[in-house]
Amino acid sequence: MLNFNLQVPTRILFGKNKVDELGKEILKYGNRVLLVYGGGSIKRCGLYDRIVQILNEKDIFYAELSGVQPNPRITSVRQGVELCRENRVELVLAVGGGSVIDCAKIIAAGVMYDGEPWDFFQGKARIGKALPVGTVLTLAATGSEMNLTAVISNEDTDEKIGVGGISLYPRFSILDPALTFTVPPHQTAAGTADIISHIFEQYFSPTPGCFVQDRMAEAMLKACIYYGPVAIVEPENYEARANLMWTGTLALNGLLSTGKNTDWGVHQIEHVISAIYDVTHGLGLAILIPAWMRQVLNEHTVVKLAEYARRVWAIHGDDDFAVANLGINKTEDFFRSLGLAASLKEIGVEEGRLEEIADQATADQVPLGSFGQLSRNDVLNILQAAYSA
Ligand code: NZQ
Ligand code: ZN
Repeated sequence: MLNFNLQVPTRILFGKNKVDELGKEILKYGNRVLLVYGGGSIKRCGLYDRIVQILNEKDIFYAELSGVQPNPRITSVRQGVELCRENRVELVLAVGGGSVIDCAKIIAAGVMYDGEPWDFFQGKARIGKALPVGTVLTLAATGSEMNLTAVISNEDTDEKIGVGGISLYPRFSILDPALTFTVPPHQTAAGTADIISHIFEQYFSPTPGCFVQDRMAEAMLKACIYYGPVAIVEPENYEARANLMWTGTLALNGLLSTGKNTDWGVHQIEHVISAIYDVTHGLGLAILIPAWMRQVLNEHTVVKLAEYARRVWAIHGDDDFAVANLGINKTEDFFRSLGLAASLKEIGVEEGRLEEIADQATADQVPLGSFGQLSRNDVLNILQAAYSA
């Protein structure tokens, strides 16, 4: 296990009707808010009305930025920054999934920066100070509600890039699992796949001796495998939604990556694909993961992949390669059982652009990933396998 520092400042308010505490939390930071949300799901389920009622009851001023798209765009960030400045906003309140939260984080940092917010993503500026961010989470997936990362797309350049900064940690996040009852089956499946992928990116590590992190990771994987299908069939099953929601948060709040090198190769490849094709993030990951596992399986990685198969899928056998391969097949079958597409072809990726995607995914980092150690051609192999899976 490697040395590490861990400090996660986000206050979590978890459970039924926790949104009732929203006003009190906001007033710790001020009484002027930018309310950021997506394409309307919060209006359809009545959450918008409840939030507006709370803001009015507490005399909290609010401006609104609506229409933040999945794979949030830098143009929404620019609009939000302007609204914050015009209205002297003191806290950015994100109500939605990872896209809304990520957009809110960069708005919060953009307000405190004199230049153009895309500078953060081009390495021209570092995230410095930011307005406080609060969140009401409506979708279990990214973990953005308790981490320092934000991923933004630029529609002009077909880029999708993540940045991080201590000031981006939400000050508070309200996690009421009942707010995810309305998440449709496909989005529930994609969210579950995203959570699983976050766990994999940290679990499949070359660093030995992280027993406690690995057993926590396996418990989280089992939670996704058990409760993901339940939430799809019974969308209002509180136990399933609660376990998925808390797993999603824990999977990417820094806990699982303590003391180890992490991989993030699959995420890097998926971000290139979703920048070009506007693919649902978790769906792209689910298609790539089995191909990535098969590509990275070798004499160095087999012990870990076999350990995964044994501990998570209860596969027995003495031959590590055979056991690891069965575990990979199980993983692939699981994603398909959630109703997720199995190949890049099915989601509209063009075969003629796979080389370009491999180039972009490895433009800044070769080898890509610490467990996988992918060359540019390894990435191309993964893309070709995932294309016609
Ligand atoms: O826009 P609305 O109408 O709200 O609908 C959304 C959207 O269409 C809908 N939705 C959300 N909550 C709902 C709901 N529909 C019904 N009922 C509800 N309660 O779901 C759709 C997808 O929302 P989105 O926020 O895009 O999903 P997700 O949470 O998966 O976020 C994905 C984004 O986060 C990034 C991804 O790359 C992608 O851009 N990521 C952010 C990370 C981070 N900040 O740490 C890490 C991740 O690896 C990821 O890269
Ligand atoms: Zn992800």
